[in-house]
Amino acid sequence: MKSMTVWLSLIVLLLGCSPRAIDYDQVGAHDKLIIRFSHVTGEETPKGLAAKRFKEIVETRSDGKIEVQVFPNSTLFSDKEELKALKRGEIQLIAPATSKVSPLVPEALLFDLPYLFHNQDDVWKIADGPIGEELNQLLEKQGYKMLAVWDNGFKQLTNNRHPIERPEDFKDLSFRIMPSKVLAKQFESVGSTSMVLAFDELYTALEQGHVDGEENTVSNIYSKKLYLTQKYMTKSDHGYLGYFVLTQKEFWEAIPPEQRELLEQALVEVTEWERNLALDIDIKEYEALKAIQGLEIYELSEEEKQQWREAFYLTYEWFASQTQDEIIKGFITEIFEEGTSSKDK
Ligand code: LMR
Repeated sequence: MKSMTVWLSLIVLLLGCSPRAIDYDQVGAHDKLIIRFSHVTGEETPKGLAAKRFKEIVETRSDGKIEVQVFPNSTLFSDKEELKALKRGEIQLIAPATSKVSPLVPEALLFDLPYLFHNQDDVWKIADGPIGEELNQLLEKQGYKMLAVWDNGFKQLTNNRHPIERPEDFKDLSFRIMPSKVLAKQFESVGSTSMVLAFDELYTALEQGHVDGEENTVSNIYSKKLYLTQKYMTKSDHGYLGYFVLTQKEFWEAIPPEQRELLEQALVEVTEWERNLALDIDIKEYEALKAIQGLEIYELSEEEKQQWREAFYLTYEWFASQTQDEIIKGFITEIFEEGTSSKDK
């Protein structure tokens, strides 16, 4: 018997919003599958553009039988609400940063470890391999399904107090973070405090000085004009920001196989496109940030990045002591040992 959640999803799916019970097996060829895709970034960001491309591909290939409604910029739900809204069946697709999934599945904290990845290829090895599959299993136990991992890029630091060039410069500063215990540890390990805020609260919090700074990708700093509120930026590449494209498991499995295949194929193509696009946007918008008057940028050298990695070392230790998952534990031990040997040098 289908659960209440599935019924609610199907009602939204078939009618937009009308509260009429539908037997999905009896639905005729004229009915439309409606998928509401809610996200929090601007339309011109990697996630925003990928959501639009997914919509175009799906609507064209399905001959209009599937409609994808995209709601960017937290217009429908903020990142504090979107996971619950997905579970309730009010939306069918979201793409939260991995950090925002970590309160639900703590193993996702892995992606937040500072200087874990050297480049995007390292990320895809993890995301598209057994660890990605393991995370999907954990999400499925909670009623979600991970359909893809999308990219944004590496995070940089901005703040309003003074340039951050060495680990000591973090002392006594406060930063906005996403809801992730690893991110809280990361800042704690270098003497800063942190405050969890939703993405749509960030600009105002910086403008009004509730926190001194934040960490984000070039694309988010640029598209949300965070540079208008910040005097200093450090090109540190210290952490990774990517997205789990999520749906509700029961909803997805109730879609007729032919339509589901079309959607999954579109996601494969959009994911490949999105990952390349994210790299291009990151380079292009970094150049644009460099040209902004009043934003002072300091770029860390490779040697400095290594010093920072060591300064954040307690974060690894903490994460390794917390995680119970065998696959993730094995992976972390490897990285951890790599960290130890570089620390001992
Ligand atoms: C943030 O909250 O800073 C980011 O996760 C926003 C996003 O979705 O890229």
